[in-house]
Amino acid sequence: MQTIFSGIQPSGTLTIGNFLGAIQHFVGLQEENNCYFCIVDEHAITVPQDRLELRQNIRSLAALYLASGIDPEKSTLFIQSEVPAHAQLNWMLQSISYIGELERMTQFKDKSTGGKEGVSAALLTYPPLMAADILLYQTDIVPVGEDQKQHLELTRHIAERFNNRFNDIFTAPEISIPKVGARIMSLQDPTKKMSKSDENEKAYISMLDDPKRIEKKIKSAVTDSEGVVAFDQENKPAISNLLTIYASCSGKSIEALETEYMDKGYGTFKQDLAQAVINVLQPIQDRYHELINSDALDDILDTGAEKASYQANKMLRKAKKAMGLGRVTNKR
Ligand code: TYM
Repeated sequence: MQTIFSGIQPSGTLTIGNFLGAIQHFVGLQEENNCYFCIVDEHAITVPQDRLELRQNIRSLAALYLASGIDPEKSTLFIQSEVPAHAQLNWMLQSISYIGELERMTQFKDKSTGGKEGVSAALLTYPPLMAADILLYQTDIVPVGEDQKQHLELTRHIAERFNNRFNDIFTAPEISIPKVGARIMSLQDPTKKMSKSDENEKAYISMLDDPKRIEKKIKSAVTDSEGVVAFDQENKPAISNLLTIYASCSGKSIEALETEYMDKGYGTFKQDLAQAVINVLQPIQDRYHELINSDALDDILDTGAEKASYQANKMLRKAKKAMGLGRVTNKR
């Protein structure tokens, strides 16, 4: 049995990108592994958040995890800020992280393009918090979408640096990135990642969009002038992206879809794609609405925080001891 950890930011309703790149794969991993799934609210506050919206998004994300198939009997589902060990280990790992390596992170560079004056220090020190999330649980595997690869590589470096400098206590985790769906692109600009923080709503499908909206967004998705449904990332990035979404939602291979739509136009292809997306999201949305205001949701998160804290505190004590923090006492 291996230990799995992954996290998602509660910074807006999840997109189909989050689902296909991450959550969908979490569900299958629960059967054979010891899984921790986290709502990383401390990561979300690295950029300004509205207090009430953040609260709502945290609850909504918990309900979406469960509605997508995360089973609290098999996995530990919890909120990051309810397990203080994450912030504590983060501080310790910041002390062995270098400003140079943190400044090289693509996410930091992207989010600080407007100059560093209005950018929070926490945006820079985001990766050591992510490393803390992962290392507290002796994680073997971290399933994520492709955009997290750089952060995961840094996590491995930080773990190895700590082990070499102090004591060999941390497991350097492996990254698991899905073969199809690891990078779902914007429906309006296939050179940009689909993101829940995109200003243009038409650029993404939210996991809570109703069928009419899904149909509309897919209908208005950009394509090309060729009219041929074929996968060619370089020359046909928009259609390739739609094919990826279709394959991930239907379980059919991209080759099978290319054959199926060989003589059909983009109109029919888009209509069927919308239906495939609706078929995946509708049952999730039904469960979501049952869960979102339930007491059961709170009970699950309470239990999750307790289970996660037990494990995290054990590791935190080891890390403090390795670094020489606190004191040794002879008192019994
Ligand atoms: P976040 O909240 O941006 O995204 C959550 C997960 O969804 C994946 N993802 C995508 N996959 C495919 N196509 C897309 N367009 C797409 N957009 C997002 C992400 O790769 C991710 O797996 N820093 C992380 C959260 C985090 C974390 C962790 C993850 C904090 N601590 C520890 C793993 C382990 C983030 O911002 O993900």
